[in-house]
Amino acid sequence: MPARIIDGRALAKAMRGGFVTRIEALGAEGVTPGLAVLLIGDDPASAVYVGRKVKACAAVGIASFTERLPASISNAELLGRIVELNADPAIHGILVQLPLPAHIDMARVLETISADKDVDGFHLYNVGGLVTGTTVFSPCTPYGVVKLLEYENIPIEGQNVVVVGASNIVGKPMALMLMARDATVSICHAKTRDLAQYTILADILVVAAGVPRLIVPQMIKHGAVVIDVGINRLPDGSITGDVDFEGVSQKASAITPVPGGVGPMTVTMLLDNTIRSAERAHALHRH
Ligand code: GUN
Repeated sequence: MPARIIDGRALAKAMRGGFVTRIEALGAEGVTPGLAVLLIGDDPASAVYVGRKVKACAAVGIASFTERLPASISNAELLGRIVELNADPAIHGILVQLPLPAHIDMARVLETISADKDVDGFHLYNVGGLVTGTTVFSPCTPYGVVKLLEYENIPIEGQNVVVVGASNIVGKPMALMLMARDATVSICHAKTRDLAQYTILADILVVAAGVPRLIVPQMIKHGAVVIDVGINRLPDGSITGDVDFEGVSQKASAITPVPGGVGPMTVTMLLDNTIRSAERAHALHRH
């Protein structure tokens, strides 16, 4: 039987409906959630992602402020701007779109963003919180994957989960979030020998490798849940994930499509984090 298709657009839409209520409640108290988006240089893919985030903010009533900064900006200037945004009470979230130009010290940038406004969840405080289970903001893509699994009533506890990809943005936080939910987690990456030996054991397979069609049917177990985080542009301009969707969907029990699976959830969780940041700031202010 072909796999159930996990509809990320549907869950994203349902969740965004709920956000409007929260934003109205804040509005009644005179608070509009505000997100600052810093886009440095002119990477075309980054411009597309930022455009999506800005549009999604507008649709639910979050005020977004995009700052396009030249690729030639100095570290000091960029850090200075972040310090100003940290102190701005109208800003509840600060997002610096990655990747950054090579001369920019990314670690320094991410550590300069106030942990209380770190809606991407990349600050060491929030990364450390993922390890201990006390994080304030979880990174948006893995957070979206967890929400999709919950929505689909797919159990996590005690399951064998294999994460393919060990990036700071997706693979590593994904593994920590699933460990926190008592899964047995294996992390594979570009240097893993005989990837199939691991993937074949997965009850839940999360793939964030950035390699088109890396996962083929022979590599998965019958009935596995397959989550495809990949977004790859092929030479013909089409977008494909890291999974051979046609083949794998004949063997999996549930699978996310690309596009329309994880992607819409990433942006949705950014909205959630931004609204929650505004709610936290307002609650602190009241007490
Ligand atoms: N570049 C690719 N993914 C992300 C993300 O989730 N946040 C930011 N800031 N940059 C990215």
